Amino acid sequence: MELECKCGSTCIRTAEEILSKAKESYNPCEQCPNINLNKFKPLNQQLNLKNVDQDFGRCACGKRHLDLTMAHILKIMIEENQKKEISTLRDACVPLINPAYPLQAIPYLGEKSLIVLSPKMNKKCAQRILDEVMEVKCVLQGEAKNTVGIKDSHFDPHTYKRLAGCDMRCDIFTTPLGPLCLYKDQGEIHIEFPRPQSPKINALSIFLNKHFPDKEPKPSKNNYKNPTFCTPESSSYSAVNRDLNSSFTVLDATCGPGTLGIYCLMWGASRVVFNDLWKPATNMATLNLEVNGFEVDFFDETLEKCMVASGDKFEVYNLDIRNLGNVLDEKFDLCIVDPFPGVDSQDFIRAAEKLAKQVLVIE
Ligand SMILES: C[S@@+](CC[C@H](N)C(=O)[O-])C[C@H]1O[C@@H](n2cnc3c(N)ncnc32)[C@H](O)[C@@H]1O
Ligand SMILES: [Zn+2]
Ligand SMILES: [Zn+2]
Repeated sequence: MELECKCGSTCIRTAEEILSKAKESYNPCEQCPNINLNKFKPLNQQLNLKNVDQDFGRCACGKRHLDLTMAHILKIMIEENQKKEISTLRDACVPLINPAYPLQAIPYLGEKSLIVLSPKMNKKCAQRILDEVMEVKCVLQGEAKNTVGIKDSHFDPHTYKRLAGCDMRCDIFTTPLGPLCLYKDQGEIHIEFPRPQSPKINALSIFLNKHFPDKEPKPSKNNYKNPTFCTPESSSYSAVNRDLNSSFTVLDATCGPGTLGIYCLMWGASRVVFNDLWKPATNMATLNLEVNGFEVDFFDETLEKCMVASGDKFEVYNLDIRNLGNVLDEKFDLCIVDPFPGVDSQDFIRAAEKLAKQVLVIE
């Protein structure tokens, strides 16, 4: 499968490429200036906004402290009447860095490394931000607290409005088996910030080790015992070597961008079926399989409500979990159910119990 972004540009790279650059990408160089802005004090009482432009506070290395990038964005929003004169950095907009992984310090940003999300934003202002602030790759309009996607079949879907640029973003999750790179087109897929340890990956890991101990893979000690940010040299991108006779099948029934099912493939599952009712989620799960080293042999983006992609050890479906039993005539070892918070999961669990011997509900 070609790793080409919908925008036609080079937004999508393989996990190796992302990780080889990710470690240093947000660190300042020795000359990068140290910045100290108060996020709760109006910006115009701390800086002369006339001076805040593309070069303001930018180091010769090309990077700029996140706060200064946000100051530049806020200045444009004030000029375009999207924010009050007395606004603070705190109420500017939500910054989503790309790629994202847990950081120990505020990042210094380079070109096209930021997506911004704001409830109040018009197209003119968004286009100015994209054109004038080189760190920005996309401007979205929407409320961060609103779930993006579809909560269940009887809910209306919700998306953020993409006003300028491309919203393709990558989150890097640290797992006991190495890093996992998850792309999301952020206008259509819910925001989930990578934390030093992902509670849902940990829950899945514990479940797999407890319920299927005989199937546990043997990754290098280095990866398994050290769930911190791994470099490509210390990580595994594709399936861990398993005993080829053992079979372990998983249904990731509400897969979203594919996090948990891909983790099962890394763990060494012999077959994983991904499924999601939300078509953009199945597109992302397919892309993320390829990005993380699980080659996609078939993918038809135009298909809906059926199998949309497949590879050696996986298939991807776009169905309501309730209808999966009509097309999947098999009993999986495990079905993962990960609904959005606040969704009544009883139906999901009932459907999962018919399809698998064990059900893991992420709560
Ligand atoms: C919390 S997200 C899953 C996140 C995913 N497990 C991950 O970690 O990347 C919940 C998912 O359930 C999907 N969903 C909602 N209703 C569904 C249904 N009736 N059948 C299948 N999937 C559904 C949503 O589209 C959404 O992608
Ligand atoms: Zn793109
Ligand atoms: Zn520098």
